[in-house]
Amino acid sequence: MKHLLKLSDISKDDILSILELADRLKAKQKKGEEHKLLAGKTLGMIFEKSSTRTRVSFETGMYQLGGHALFLSSNDLQIGRGEPICDTARVMSRYVDGIMIRTFAQQTVEDLAKFGSVPVINGLTDFAHPCQVLADFQTIREYKKRLEGLKLCYIGDGNNMANSLIVGGIKVGMTVSVATPPMHKPDSAVMDFAKNSGRFSYTDDVLKAAKDADVLVTDVWASMGQEKEAQARMKVFAGYQINSDIMSVAAKDAIVLHCLPAHRGEEITEEIFENHANVIFDEAENRLHAQKAVMVRLMGEN
Ligand code: CP
Ligand code: NVA
Repeated sequence: MKHLLKLSDISKDDILSILELADRLKAKQKKGEEHKLLAGKTLGMIFEKSSTRTRVSFETGMYQLGGHALFLSSNDLQIGRGEPICDTARVMSRYVDGIMIRTFAQQTVEDLAKFGSVPVINGLTDFAHPCQVLADFQTIREYKKRLEGLKLCYIGDGNNMANSLIVGGIKVGMTVSVATPPMHKPDSAVMDFAKNSGRFSYTDDVLKAAKDADVLVTDVWASMGQEKEAQARMKVFAGYQINSDIMSVAAKDAIVLHCLPAHRGEEITEEIFENHANVIFDEAENRLHAQKAVMVRLMGEN
């Protein structure tokens, strides 16, 4: 594994070994044990979109690992004035030991990896959010003690989170059900991959998707870059909400995940969000641990 661009590039064993390392690093950090596995290394972090969790967890994680992280807003980089990604990749590779990028097109992340010579980590594109899903799986394992055999249900927009949860969920042996409005399905190649597993279902019926689910996940109705569509989306997505009706058909001990930021009263009700806040904020915390594992795996000495 050279990069983390999307979960379809990596194997089930890669995912599980990252999760195991994430658990070990979390335990060390909780006990206050030193784990400076990336001493002297620098991570460049390119942000073309806003972030709270991704920025803070990568920067803090790098510090805890003994390294350094550079916050690089695209407005301040020459990228913002049109310098091509192929040149940015070759230049940054001469300075830093790894690059994390949050951007729009998945192709930008792929090009950064292709033209650069250091590991590249996808910190969210319109297509995928692999770091978030690794943190989600770490959280599910903490609460459910396993991944294989669980039913994961995603309700909402067929966006980056949906795509990554589907690919990741299928890879680790979960059954995955998805309900979205028909015009907002997940990526078609992702759905084809999932259908081949025999453990995937897609519907526009939220109650059908949520039936007996062990893990329920949702995400915002309008992602970053879709702000102008937000009002129109409110109408289309009404009904694609995690609420008490959904919880009543899910497994009794179902957990609820949300990558955050959450819009209460839209994709999730206030009541369900607050009832499951412990899990949701553990999930947010696990961004730190899961990403430290990814960075050690990609940037550390073997
Ligand atoms: N979940 C997530 O990626 O959060 P940020 O947008 O705050 O980084
Ligand atoms: N789907 C959301 C996720 C935010 C973490 C977005 O892309 O804005």
